[in-house]
Amino acid sequence: MTGTVVAIDGPSGSGKSTISRRVAAQLGMAYLDTGAMYRAAAWWCVRDGIDLADTAAVARAVRELPLEMMTDPRDPGIAVGGEDVSVVIRSTEISTVVSAVATNLEVRAELRRRQREIIDASRGEGGIVAEGRDITTVVAPDADVRILLVASEEARLARRAREIHGADDEGAIEATRDQVLRRDADDSTVSSFQVAADGVVTVDSSELTLDETVDAVRGLIETVQAGQR
Ligand code: DC
Repeated sequence: MTGTVVAIDGPSGSGKSTISRRVAAQLGMAYLDTGAMYRAAAWWCVRDGIDLADTAAVARAVRELPLEMMTDPRDPGIAVGGEDVSVVIRSTEISTVVSAVATNLEVRAELRRRQREIIDASRGEGGIVAEGRDITTVVAPDADVRILLVASEEARLARRAREIHGADDEGAIEATRDQVLRRDADDSTVSSFQVAADGVVTVDSSELTLDETVDAVRGLIETVQAGQR
């Protein structure tokens, strides 16, 4: 049997990274965080002083990006030119500018090509859970399981506020608004991740705990795997 390919998309704060990692670890599959690839690309351009509005220069830089994705869900590292960037790419500075790189169509073409390579390689192994904004629709529309993970705006803002500020009071929620809503609005101009495409199952985590959401996603994967056996 070939490894199962699971594609998960969703907006910011939907919990898709945490859920995808846990499910992959539980099922012995690889894990690919495609958002981290866009973040690494943004970090690389910022570090080189490239004007992110100069789309041709950004695309040129990203084609040369010496990116290494490590897909162990228990330790999913990301390195650029041998340097571990897993922490620095999550900074507020990068979170604020990453959409400028992620909406560059030449950058998307290059990173999608690399994402497909990683996904294809996993088919001969234990399979993969790949998450992002356009995995179910563009990167791997032929995935065995395709899921759109959604949550209410309120739930997403509160989650991100707790993640970034350690609290979900009004001030923390206001400070998080740009990172969640503005970014999703920008990202929505190049990917469709608010409504499920045909054949994509929606999982709404607004009223579910983390464990319940993991169980729901796992259940969908195991049902498909049982049918493949
Ligand atoms: O999921 P995240 O916040 O780490 O994503 C970082 C940025 O990359 C965000 O602006 C959305 C964008 N992105 C994308 O356009 N396509 C993907 N497949 C994954 C992320």
